Amino acid sequence: MSDTSTGNDHHHAPGGYGAISKRLVLTVFFSLLVPIILVVSLVMSATADRKPVPSKADLEIAMAARLQKVGSIQLGEASHELKTGEQVFQVRCSACHGTGAAGSPKFGDAAAWGPRIKSPFESLLNSALKGKGNMSPQGGGDLSDLEIARGVVYMANAGGGKFPEPKVPAAADAAAKK
Ligand code: HEC
Repeated sequence: MSDTSTGNDHHHAPGGYGAISKRLVLTVFFSLLVPIILVVSLVMSATADRKPVPSKADLEIAMAARLQKVGSIQLGEASHELKTGEQVFQVRCSACHGTGAAGSPKFGDAAAWGPRIKSPFESLLNSALKGKGNMSPQGGGDLSDLEIARGVVYMANAGGGKFPEPKVPAAADAAAKK
């Protein structure tokens, strides 16, 4: 086992003339290729984006739901007293009605509330309790019916309504608090 193959003395520099021009070709190739890939992927992502765009109302509802959670953490544990209409509005309703999001009649906007407050109070309350259009039942919360009613009165009257503040029925009071 004698080693005879030591004849390889030709010293090739790592970057000979051939290697340089090869690198040059590669450089030119990639400097063209990279922008092309970029442009193609940009175009593809731009067209892909167009497919399932959630509607503006969907986004606003999602946003309102998120805002609502923050609101209920702040006020939820405040007390076991029934909330006033204003408190109910702040906690449950303002996320949408504060700005008119999701197509809701905006707080204090008499033009938006005008046609609605022509309905009997029962009908408005029913919409708030059971939900209507983009509005989830109870505005998505778990308040008592009486608190919702107060919220409806608070909002409807701010929009030009003249509904009386709902009374607390002595017997229903305890039930409503639970
Ligand atoms: C997720 C958003 C959202 C929240 C939260 C919300 N509403 Fe609404 N509300 C709406 C939308 C949207 C409408 C319009 C519904 C329609 O006419 O299709 C509406 C309509 C109403 C109406 C009019 C109903 C009618 O019959 O014309 C009342 C009253 C009302 N809301 C009360 C409330 C009260 C009270 C709360 C809080 C307890 C509340 N809303 C919370 C979105 C919301």
